[in-house]
Amino acid sequence: MTNMVGQSIGRVDGRLKVTGRARYAAEFNEPDLAHAVIVSSTIGLGSITGIAAEEVERMPGVIAVLSHKNAQRLPYGPNRQSIDPPYGERLHVLQDDEVRFFGQPIAVVVAETLEQAERAAHALKITYSARVPQVDPATAERVFPEAARQGAGRVHADVERGDAIAALRNAEVSVDVHFAIQRENHNPMEPHATVAKWEGDELTLWSKSQFVVSEQAEISAIFGIPAEKVHVVSPFVGGGFGTSLRTWPHVTLAALAARHIGRPVKLVLTRRQMFYTTGHRPFTLQRVAIGADNTGKLTSIVHDGAGETSRYEEFIEALTSVTSFMYSCPNVRTTYRMIPLDTSTPTYMRGPGEAPGMHALECALDELAYKLNLDPLDLRRRNEPDIDEGRGIPFSSRSMLQCYELGAEKFGWARRTPTPRSMTDGRLLIGYGMASGSYPCFFAPANAQVRLMPDGTAEIEAAASDMGPGTYTSMTQVAADYLGIPIERVKFALGKSDFPATPPHGGSMTMASVGSAVRAACLDAKAKAAEASVREVNGSFSAMRVEDLIWREGSLSKLADMTGGRSFQDIVSAQGSPIVGVASAARDVEVAGKYSMHSFGAVFAEVAVDPDVSIIRVRRVVGAYGVGKVVNPILAKSQCIGGIIGGIGMAIMERTVLDRRNGRPINAHLADYLVPVNLDTPRMDVFFVDEDDPHVNPLGVKGLGEISLVGVSAAIANAIFHATGKRVHELPIMIENLI
Ligand code: MOS
Repeated sequence: MTNMVGQSIGRVDGRLKVTGRARYAAEFNEPDLAHAVIVSSTIGLGSITGIAAEEVERMPGVIAVLSHKNAQRLPYGPNRQSIDPPYGERLHVLQDDEVRFFGQPIAVVVAETLEQAERAAHALKITYSARVPQVDPATAERVFPEAARQGAGRVHADVERGDAIAALRNAEVSVDVHFAIQRENHNPMEPHATVAKWEGDELTLWSKSQFVVSEQAEISAIFGIPAEKVHVVSPFVGGGFGTSLRTWPHVTLAALAARHIGRPVKLVLTRRQMFYTTGHRPFTLQRVAIGADNTGKLTSIVHDGAGETSRYEEFIEALTSVTSFMYSCPNVRTTYRMIPLDTSTPTYMRGPGEAPGMHALECALDELAYKLNLDPLDLRRRNEPDIDEGRGIPFSSRSMLQCYELGAEKFGWARRTPTPRSMTDGRLLIGYGMASGSYPCFFAPANAQVRLMPDGTAEIEAAASDMGPGTYTSMTQVAADYLGIPIERVKFALGKSDFPATPPHGGSMTMASVGSAVRAACLDAKAKAAEASVREVNGSFSAMRVEDLIWREGSLSKLADMTGGRSFQDIVSAQGSPIVGVASAARDVEVAGKYSMHSFGAVFAEVAVDPDVSIIRVRRVVGAYGVGKVVNPILAKSQCIGGIIGGIGMAIMERTVLDRRNGRPINAHLADYLVPVNLDTPRMDVFFVDEDDPHVNPLGVKGLGEISLVGVSAAIANAIFHATGKRVHELPIMIENLI
């Protein structure tokens, strides 16, 4: 074994990125490419009564106008991927005259140039019969998820142990708080984009995707063609945060348009269109009521959640997923209801479920701490559980207490004076706040292939994606270690549906799942190389048994006396053709039933609030995490910093506002949809506790993409209370909430 795992090496694809040679979906400019622009509905509900296509078809450069009137009827065969809502049916584009939400794609204009296509798309006259959509979650009905009834989806809605309501009523001290969190859109820098090209009945899609094998399956189901005929290519992803997990309608539209005109077509969404049909973090409402005795021991937690979904699919935001195990408490009740609206379907957004759910839980705990006159950190320590009390099984590992200790020390929590408005810096009010975070350690079956080459390099393939965390680099490190070769000799490729299948590049499971598959494929390749060596004629290991050989440091020797060391390069050269290792990795079902597997973290934030105009500045954030083995500390730190910035956006900036009259996202652009920029971004320090978890997967990694956002908004909200004495039960917290 070399020792690359655990090292802070730079990104192996860094040079490609900084020199502009990393190619993103929209940069695959095929010869004879035409440009497509989506025409989005300008009503929020109703039907299309007319499309004046003939007028724009005569405009310069226009090749075609596709709508429900002339688009090919598509079979839309059944296909439900792990990231798709467990119940309902996805949107079928250009198949009928119905408009279900504002911004729904209702036509596509294809032209020789992008400018011509845009001009014609703007000129296209469409008439509607419009009704008023229901987009106000406050007045909409709430329904029990059908998926939960059927045992599908991540939320097993309505779970109870003990009698939480009675315990709440009898509690010596209690809080009962309602929270509203506004809709958010992912807004990665790279917009969704697809270049579609048909060659006979084969379709290639250069497409921004966090899940190429799912996109392949979905497009094959929609068009009713065999999956082998669809090739999805996505070598680089310019930020995702979950919005590129599902295959959204624009991919279908690009393929439809390309087939219609018989030429390759490029389709890129505008920033505005990124607010329409590519998922969003749903608007959510929560009630968290917590009871405790006078010493701060929790006696009851009631956590009721509700989140918006579309009329046509059940998206469930896992708001209550941590509530049953986060703290020790005999009586816990959680519920979940959906709020169906005339809108497009929400989707996973970084820290889905846990980020909004733990915001409510952790803010309510802060309120309880004040009622009990306890340090918020002490309150949490007093309720640290020994096991997962929801499932009645131990944690595979849980470093919560170490995270509290490390984070508090690095942050200087001891300097905090508890009384609100008691800390100042000049005229500014200073607040310190903290919160816990957790995210499940997911693992889904993954595959990888390793080719040992005669020149001593190893070519590794897995369908996976790299939306920024450094998948290329971390997988290279794993392969280098398990093959015993320097990282320069590892060539890791990803982002093709033709490569061995992998799970979604989301849910913080890429390192665990794909990493385990890469490891297993390397071990398989080495075993095959050993077998090849004993089959050689007149080789040093000829006619030996493979059991009598051992790999060390990339060299195969005799177990008995460690002599005869041969590299795989020698063996492959002797054989004359590459040696191929393939493997799958999956979590042992028995182990999964025995241990509760989650990452844990603690976030500490300092804010400064102007006492006159209530401008909020986050000044400092410290995060301490127990995430198992950290493969590349500098990349891991970088990923956590990104998550913290996302949490700052969630806490004080991000919200998508809908016009109640027609469902139009009013602020569908980056001038009014605020995300943190450099001036909003404070000093962030990230620490990892040493954590050795032998149960989660062979690499011992838990994943950290999501947990780095979970808890950030609560720590900031709690700091804002500490600074100002005002509790705001809504996100984002804005100036007007404090004045
Ligand atoms: Mo993340 S929401 O799983 O891309």
